[in-house]
Amino acid sequence: MSYKRTLVTCALPYANGPVHIGHLAGAYLPGDIYVRYLRMRGEDVVFICGSDEHGVPITIKAREQGVTPQDIVDKYHKVMKDAFTGLGINFDIYSRTSSAVHDENAAEFFRKLYDQDDFITQESEQLYDEDAKMFLTDRLIEGTCPKCGNPHAYGDQCEKCGSTLSPEELLDPKSKLSGSTPVKKKTKHWYLPLNQYEPWLRDWILEQHKEWKTNVYGQCKSWLDGGLQPRAVTRDLDWGVPVPVDGAEGKVLYVWFDAPIGYISNTKELLPESWEKWWKDPETRLIHFIGKDNIVFHCIVFPSMLKAYGDYVLPDNVPSNEFLNLEGDKISTSRNWAVWVHEYEKDFPGCEDVLRYVLTANAPETKDNDFTWKDFQSRNNSELLAIFGNFVNRAVVLTQKYFGGKVPANLKPEAIDAETLASIKPCREALEKYLDTFHFREALKEAMNMARIGNKYISDMEPWKVAKEDMDRTASILYTCLQICADLAIAFEPFTPFSAQKLRDILRVGINAGWDHRAGEGSPTVNFYKADEGLALHTVPFAGSLSKEALSSPSLSLDWSMLGASELLPSGHELGQAVLLFRKIEDDEVEAQIARLQAIKAAREAAEAAKAAAEAAKKVEPQKPEVTFEQFGAMDIRTATVLAAERVPKTDKLLKLSIDTGIDQRTIVSGIAEYYSPEDMVGKQICILANLAPRTIRGIESRGMILMAKQGDGTMRFITPQEALVNGATIG
Ligand code: 2FM
Ligand code: ZN
Repeated sequence: MSYKRTLVTCALPYANGPVHIGHLAGAYLPGDIYVRYLRMRGEDVVFICGSDEHGVPITIKAREQGVTPQDIVDKYHKVMKDAFTGLGINFDIYSRTSSAVHDENAAEFFRKLYDQDDFITQESEQLYDEDAKMFLTDRLIEGTCPKCGNPHAYGDQCEKCGSTLSPEELLDPKSKLSGSTPVKKKTKHWYLPLNQYEPWLRDWILEQHKEWKTNVYGQCKSWLDGGLQPRAVTRDLDWGVPVPVDGAEGKVLYVWFDAPIGYISNTKELLPESWEKWWKDPETRLIHFIGKDNIVFHCIVFPSMLKAYGDYVLPDNVPSNEFLNLEGDKISTSRNWAVWVHEYEKDFPGCEDVLRYVLTANAPETKDNDFTWKDFQSRNNSELLAIFGNFVNRAVVLTQKYFGGKVPANLKPEAIDAETLASIKPCREALEKYLDTFHFREALKEAMNMARIGNKYISDMEPWKVAKEDMDRTASILYTCLQICADLAIAFEPFTPFSAQKLRDILRVGINAGWDHRAGEGSPTVNFYKADEGLALHTVPFAGSLSKEALSSPSLSLDWSMLGASELLPSGHELGQAVLLFRKIEDDEVEAQIARLQAIKAAREAAEAAKAAAEAAKKVEPQKPEVTFEQFGAMDIRTATVLAAERVPKTDKLLKLSIDTGIDQRTIVSGIAEYYSPEDMVGKQICILANLAPRTIRGIESRGMILMAKQGDGTMRFITPQEALVNGATIG
């Protein structure tokens, strides 16, 4: 089916933490690459994103920090927005689900389905915190895992043994909000009966969308084969879009119901007059870029919602990536195991494209993948810098040196290396094939292959040597190189836009980058250098199609259709200054990043060990067999003070203590050297068993025993009176 326009969305990220490289690799970079590509091809595209500002985790975070949910989302909305902009991910709008437009739009959406009787209601018993006056989601309930005894299992899962749980299974469940024991309380919710949509979904996805990426198609199939259940679309919570019907006080729309509607709301906010065309005209193509944990919501739940509403277009494709790991470990916001984009932008200013390049070259398109700092460094130094940057620099510097910075002129047609230039064309075809089918990693390889062709050509031809004897041949070599440079300025625009722009500045050419709706309905613009006016950068209103008139000749503006052409830069065209496209990433820069991660890991391991030790210490031994009062009374337990202490030579565990027992001064040998040094003990008041039969230990006669408390983990502490007592006070 033909289409006139493409609506591209990227998953609305939760505003409860900054953006990390896993987010970028999963959805945002692929989305941006695709949009840039379509725009260069002259397609009309709107690119929508924004923060997902509802949901329980945001309320938990706010409570933990003693602030309001609004404070949390205000903070992270800005951090995320700036991080995206900093990396050149230029959404036409980056709004938020706390906006007034969204509130109204999401409520209207629910209301229509409600009026059409598309929901069912169900009453169920859920756990309720009477102190906090709130229903508890699974994550807000903590208790002991019935499988492994972990005392900190959540209502949905035990993170220690990995068991999936329900709150009812937890032993001794407690509310994380108030610490009280939750009670069961009845509550009513609205459900979208997904089971009713199953036959339609089977046909629409499994029959009509066989072209979806295999990971996406496969996940949909297994959901459908497992059978769909009605899904709750409301929650008992005070943070979110209030359910707009009577009898729903204290309830909000479930975050996964309102978030995808956010795509529509944000389009409406950007294009108040024409948004419907983007969502309801069958000639619109809707593409959702998401991470793999979002597949079911975008392929099954949201399409069912749109279908129920009616009128809306359905997603044409849902390109989803797998997960990116970091240095072999799962990326995790809560464990601080991530490369945060805003920090990267500070640590590597001017290297935005390096991250874009590495994350695309190593994208988790078909399976989970790993980001390592060593790979980051090597891809920069041996690919971007050594191939792309090096080639461009040599071509431009030599042109400055031998031809006054102008594209060589007066070439004989037969002198041009047509074969080399023609070898760009197959790369272009492959590049397009991969971009069209969302295989960005392969697509980037093709762009890089173009740079490799150029770099190999200039190395093989050695124009710096040829120039010593044959200037005509040198001209034709550099002419060929400069055409390839212009190809690279087009081909790399979707992947590394900052460097592509730098390259175009060096070449003094513009780019027809197509529609840009950031200004809303206004006129998008095209940048170009106009040759007859001193090659200054001009922008013109873009009239809606990529007409050459809009770029009135003799302007010099590249567009996608020129990729692989034999002459992109005419002879005589004057180049700008040569600047380096990429810099070397030094060892100490990546070592600092690795050290940062190692410190985080070490701190986490220490905290985990301390936690485990604290848990172990809490374990107490079972009670010993009964003793009689007489047996107890036979023991002479009394207070005493340590006068002197020293290690028993050649032992690790023994201290020799000189003790004032109130009745005498004596020696006791005690196995506490692992826990106390001699200095710790001197002057301390302790408790002893005075009438223990003397024993000779390592040749020293020990008379009595120091009373020690032994904890679950085996560690021992001595027992000391809370206030100073006379020595010899009997205990019993
Ligand atoms: O996984 C997430 O970060 C979700 N906030 C994505 C929502 S996508 C859409 F539905 F808005
Ligand atoms: Zn467990």
